[in-house]
Formats: sequence, structure tokens, C-alpha cells
Amino acid sequence: MAANQPQQQDDDDDDIAAEPTKIFLPHSSQSHLQNGFSHSPPRNGTVDQPVDQRHYLPSIPSTILIRQLPSQGLSFQLWPAATSLVALLDHHRRVSATCPLSPIISAFSRGPDRPLKILELGSGTGLVGIAAALTLGATVTVTDLPHVVPNLQFNADANAGELALHGGTLRVEPLRWGEEADVEGIGRDFDLVLASDVVYHDHLYDPLIKTLHLLLCGADKEKEKKEEQEMVFVMAHLKRWKKEAAFFNRARKLFDVDVIHVDKPCEGSRVGVKVYRFTRKGQRLAQKKC
Ligand SMILES: C[S@@+](CC[C@H](N)C(=O)[O-])C[C@H]1O[C@@H](n2cnc3c(N)ncnc32)[C@H](O)[C@@H]1O
Repeated sequence: MAANQPQQQDDDDDDIAAEPTKIFLPHSSQSHLQNGFSHSPPRNGTVDQPVDQRHYLPSIPSTILIRQLPSQGLSFQLWPAATSLVALLDHHRRVSATCPLSPIISAFSRGPDRPLKILELGSGTGLVGIAAALTLGATVTVTDLPHVVPNLQFNADANAGELALHGGTLRVEPLRWGEEADVEGIGRDFDLVLASDVVYHDHLYDPLIKTLHLLLCGADKEKEKKEEQEMVFVMAHLKRWKKEAAFFNRARKLFDVDVIHVDKPCEGSRVGVKVYRFTRKGQRLAQKKC
């Protein structure tokens, strides 16, 4: 398949992870290098200390500073699909004509007075949301579980200077998947929902789908009436287990799901990060020239 052509079906390979605990969070430094990002190793070489990483965005140019706290768990580390999504945002900013994200972004573009409104789910360290704010000049809300929010806020604050310089705004909020009250609290006034590496534990499939359903299929009569582009979900995902097909099968009952981009596998892996576009069933993406 050409990397940029939407694809309807997910492949059905065997499990990618012979030893799931090892591949659960593969050495993300390798994927940073693969995507052209620099990685500063921890100063003392242990995982108990904060690990600061600098991610260069050539398109602006700008550098995002991200603090990881590996000893506090998986939510405090950068996962491989995040860097793939950041690379696509950077690609869009550089050469929108060849970027698979660009038709989605341009479907919402209404000029400089109306910045794109983006919600990120399961933001973890916040790299994707911060990159979206910087590359698109967007109004971005990054979210995660309540206990993850302080590190997310730390990273948002660490990049406040770059945001002030290049445009884009960032808001940090707790949002638990599957909780209707959390979606009501955040609201539905978004164009784009982003996420990376959020399909991993099977007990989280249904809560995540519920949140997506509340967001993408929540009544938005105004947009329908005005025939405006409705919310789109873009998800970068690195496949690890065959069981993940259950997530996609359930999601396809509610949404049209297309693959818009596939990364080359990094060394030692059989699969690369895939980027999916989810839209409410039957909803078409407005065609606009980039
Ligand atoms: C595998 S990490 C990916 C983090 C980040 N998106 C990245 O790519 O680096 C999954 C993220 O989803 C968040 N998460 C897990 N369960 C959640 C839930 N029920 N509600 C909201 N966020 C959740 C985790 O805290 C974590 O930050």
C-alpha cells in the first residue's frame, strides 16, 4: 500500500510481542532517532531520576523540552507512536502538499483568526499536544488521568516560552476515559482529537471507545446544520498484540476507520507505527485545497 492512501482493513498478523513486557515500551530512544529527534540520555544513567529530552521541530524551528519520570510508570514516559505523530505534524508544517495529515487539518482551516481546536487524550508527557500547538498555532487541551496531570503541567510550563514565541496555546486538564462527566466538563468544542499509543490494555478499549463516541457522535446540530466539518480523531498506534483487533472491530461498528499513514518499522521490529483517522459513520471529510 502506498503510505499515504487510506486503507480500510487492519492487517491480522500474529502477535508482534513474543515477550510483551519487553515490547510494551520498547526503547523509545530508538524511535526518536528513527524519526530524526535527538535524545539526551539521563545525566546519571539511572531510571529513577527525571529524564529530560529535547525534540527539535525543524519546520518552525523550535525545540520542545519534555520531562519523563520513568520510575513513576508508563504514563510518565514517551511512547513510540508519539514521535511518529509529531513527525507528521512537522511534515505538515513544512510541506503540506505531501503530508497525509494535511487534508484533515485543511478541512478545518478557517484562517488565522480561527485557530484549530484540538483535544489530546492520554497525553502522557504531552509531547504531541505541545507539538500540535506549536506547529499549527492551535488551541490545544492536553488530558490524562488526574495523577498524570502534574507532570503534564510541568511540561506545558517548560515550553510556555516557545509557545509565546511561535503561537498556539495549551491547557492541561484531567480526563478519564469512559467518564461522561469528564467529557461534559471539557466540552465538545474541538475540531480534532489526537492520541498516540492509547490502545494497549484491553480493559481500556471500551472506556476509550465510549469517550470517542461521546466526542465524535455527541449531538452537534449546529455543525450539521452549517455543514461544517465534524470532529475527527487521529490516532497513532504501534501494534503489539493480536488482541488489539478487538479494539478496531468495536470501533468500526461506530466509526469509519482508515489508515492514513504507515511508518517504516524500526530496526528489529516487523511493524511500524500506523496512523488512523476515525470519523462518525457516514460523515465525509470536507475536501479543501491545501
Ligand atoms: C501508553 S501511554 C501513551 C502516552 C502518550 N500518548 C505517548 O504516546 O507518549 C497511555 C496514556 O494513556 C493514559 N491513560 C490510561 N488509561 C486512561 C484512562 N482510563 N483515562 C485517561 N487516560 C488514560 C495513561 O495515563 C498514559 O498517559
